Amino acid sequence: MKKVLSILFSAVLAVSMLAGCGGNNATTSNDSGNSGQGSSKNIQVGIVLPTKDEPRWLQDQKQFESLLQDAGFTSQVLFSQGSSSTEKTNVESLIAKDIKVLIICAHDAAAAGAAVEEAKAKGITVICYDRLITDTDAVDYYVTFDSVAVGEAQGQYLIDNKPDGTGIPLYLYAGAATDNNAFIFFEGAWNVLQPYIADGTFVIANSTEAEALKDKAELTYDEKSSILGQVTTDWDFNVAKSKAEAHLTANGDDLKGDVSILAPNDGTARAIADAFSADSAISSYTITGQDAEVASVVYIKDGKQSMTVFKNTNTLAYDSVQMATAILNGSDVSTDTTYNNGNKDVPSKQTPITVVTKDNFQSVLIDSGYISQADFDAAQ
Ligand code: BGC
Repeated sequence: MKKVLSILFSAVLAVSMLAGCGGNNATTSNDSGNSGQGSSKNIQVGIVLPTKDEPRWLQDQKQFESLLQDAGFTSQVLFSQGSSSTEKTNVESLIAKDIKVLIICAHDAAAAGAAVEEAKAKGITVICYDRLITDTDAVDYYVTFDSVAVGEAQGQYLIDNKPDGTGIPLYLYAGAATDNNAFIFFEGAWNVLQPYIADGTFVIANSTEAEALKDKAELTYDEKSSILGQVTTDWDFNVAKSKAEAHLTANGDDLKGDVSILAPNDGTARAIADAFSADSAISSYTITGQDAEVASVVYIKDGKQSMTVFKNTNTLAYDSVQMATAILNGSDVSTDTTYNNGNKDVPSKQTPITVVTKDNFQSVLIDSGYISQADFDAAQ
């Protein structure tokens, strides 16, 4: 049964990817689980994801399609391709299909407010998926990983695996400033790294703003913003690579040798790692990541990336579908914490994370079936 479903989902994925070739807005429709509510044009659960250009979100898409079909709901996944206006159009097109639940991972935390307000005005229940939409009341629930723990795990890895001595060059990189998570990841990393920066164990190699704030254990939003302004990757591999190259060009040998690098996620980690590998004055580097993307697991196996933070997207999608099911059935929604989005405390469901390195990737990711051996072999 599992095999049949997985073949089916691969086919759905393939069709959706083909459909996406003609435009910037890939659509996957999964009408086969129609539970009898609404016409065939109508959809019960609408899902909006930020981009299909990062493997991470294709993994989420696959999970949603599988789980919603199993649950017997009609659903549609739309991608916003890094554009707030496409995101808004996506939400509007799902509203027009009479969705009852919107699950949305926003491209831009603040800009998405207008889109979800439209949905809310039509009585649709809004679930933020992975990224919290800020400064609006139109958010009902949030399903997320423990993002402070993600940043703390990255920072702690750099501390536990630092080269000997003091004055170790530390290169800081962060996610997109439009993503609330980028601030939370950075905050987590800063929580653990800051004492080691303040006492001179690490010396910041690429951010005068972070250097100026090195004695502050807790940063304000504006302070984090000023650092992100210098070290953001925009979650974009090309931005990450050219920024790393520019930092290496600007720095002398005193900020090279054995270095530590905070990279916010796997895609940017690979790009930054490639830039550092190409500099002959870098003798070794330790670099973090996040998402357990198959390409990064290969980098970890080959010693080109040091770790990744595994966030089990199966669990996150599962929790969202459980929530959607409760909402559609009119039963109680289970949450375990709240996150403040600037306007309200949003009832949230939070999932723990796992650190993955060369020592445990086989058991945690491959033997568990999260990444198939075949996909792993194909990526090498
Ligand atoms: C997600 C990460 C992802 C990043 C870039 C973040 O909001 O939590 O898993 O790597 O966005 O897409």
